[in-house]
Amino acid sequence: MSNNWNEYAAGWDSNASVIAYADNAYIALKNTVALEGRRILDFGCGTGLLTQRLAGTASAVVALDPSHKMIAVLENKGLNNVATIASELSPNLLDDNRLLSPKFDLVVASSALAFVPDYINVLKLLHQLLDTGGYLVQWDWHKEEGEQGYGFTAQQISSALTEADFAECSVSIPFSMQADDSSLDVLMGVARKA
Ligand SMILES: C[S@@+](CC[C@H](N)C(=O)[O-])C[C@H]1O[C@@H](n2cnc3c(N)ncnc32)[C@H](O)[C@@H]1O
Repeated sequence: MSNNWNEYAAGWDSNASVIAYADNAYIALKNTVALEGRRILDFGCGTGLLTQRLAGTASAVVALDPSHKMIAVLENKGLNNVATIASELSPNLLDDNRLLSPKFDLVVASSALAFVPDYINVLKLLHQLLDTGGYLVQWDWHKEEGEQGYGFTAQQISSALTEADFAECSVSIPFSMQADDSSLDVLMGVARKA
């Protein structure tokens, strides 16, 4: 898969697999943390397949993605409690973007953190954005040790969350996706800001 996400934007919402992934992630999330009235950051939101599901119960969602074409598709959905940021996350953005100044109750990252250049640094920035007691929940493809491709081992997620100062870290496999004749497991990392 290319890392130029703009080229996927137009067809993203008609891809049955990515819709199923967002549905499964949302169900797993609802079974894990309370969403009602929460202020949520959707990191690597893409076209907002998860964002739009969250927007129904959250008080506000900030959806961030560096692909301006993905963000344009989300903005066209006209969700009234969703604000967007078309940028990567950086220390400067944290200082300068007013949408990021009230802390979040929940940060979600659905199939996004495996694509950032420095996973642990991004986790540290996401930790800063959370209120005390807030949760980070991520979903990524499950990789075995030494396997190529985008994804993580459970150990990589759990060590990275701990290194980024999160507490109560857990990693599970809440769902799997069918691909041709194989099944791909999805890992869900959950952690809390103490
Ligand atoms: C597999 S898509 C997932 C999109 C969306 N979360 C979903 O579930 O439909 C990966 C997303 O990560 C975004 N992404 C890539 N690099 C990123 C970065 N450094 N920071 C934030 N998001 C990034 C891409 O632009 C893309 O929208």
